[in-house]
Amino acid sequence: MTADPILQAHQLCRSFTDGGDSGSSLTVLKQLELTVAAGETVAIVGVSGSGKSTLLSLLAGLDDADSGEVVVAGRSWAGQDSSARAQWRNRHIGMVYQFHHLLAEFTAQENIELPLLIGGASPSLARSRASELLGQVGLAARACHRPLALSGGERQRVAVCRALANRPSVVLMDEPTGNLDPATAAALESLLLALSRDHNTAFVIVTHDHQLAARMDRQLELVDGQLVAWQGAR
Ligand SMILES: Nc1ncnc2c1ncn2[C@@H]1O[C@H](COP(=O)(O)OP(=O)(O)O)[C@@H](O)[C@H]1O
Ligand SMILES: [Mg+2]
Repeated sequence: MTADPILQAHQLCRSFTDGGDSGSSLTVLKQLELTVAAGETVAIVGVSGSGKSTLLSLLAGLDDADSGEVVVAGRSWAGQDSSARAQWRNRHIGMVYQFHHLLAEFTAQENIELPLLIGGASPSLARSRASELLGQVGLAARACHRPLALSGGERQRVAVCRALANRPSVVLMDEPTGNLDPATAAALESLLLALSRDHNTAFVIVTHDHQLAARMDRQLELVDGQLVAWQGAR
């Protein structure tokens, strides 16, 4: 790996207490290590409940580890207040979830413009960038449709455009194809790989889809709170 890491997690620990009288605690991540190079694509697999979504929240600075550190584009989340984090996230991180989380009252185009406008882009720049992205994912004709008028696959493509809008260094995806039929999932996968190459964006993809995982540069499995090489990859 020659490129500088764009994302690093070091000695990450996260446990949850159940809040009940027993005071029992569940350790989800145990001194987890992860280094992702600029432009690298990494798949994370793991059984349900192994901590994959917890890990993505920590990587995105949406949750805090009990100990350890996450560094994105050279800066640690530790010591950044919520508004500094929101700005850093807006600039460096895109997120895609299993369900698109698009805003229902806005069109596809407007959903993509929003992070650009929040990041300080002019309305005309936001408009042209959103149009460009919609064109790249084959949805130019759907720009003015609201999410409800789009199919599941189309919504996910819009969500991917939104995640890429600010040309982030890293896109974190939590089961992006988990809600799609196999053919639509396969089309989205090809699109994701093409976008990653075109934009030199690093992708960290949590997925149950072994076909998608196998197409990433590297495959890791979350087991007992740590990331290990995924055996199923061979
Ligand atoms: N906020 C929380 N409070 C308590 N337990 C949680 C919380 N978030 C996640 N967990 C628990 O941590 C474990 C890992 O959850 P999660 O990261 O969602 O797993 P995965 O995404 O791999 O399915 C699960 O047992 C889950 O119940
Ligand atoms: Mg999850």
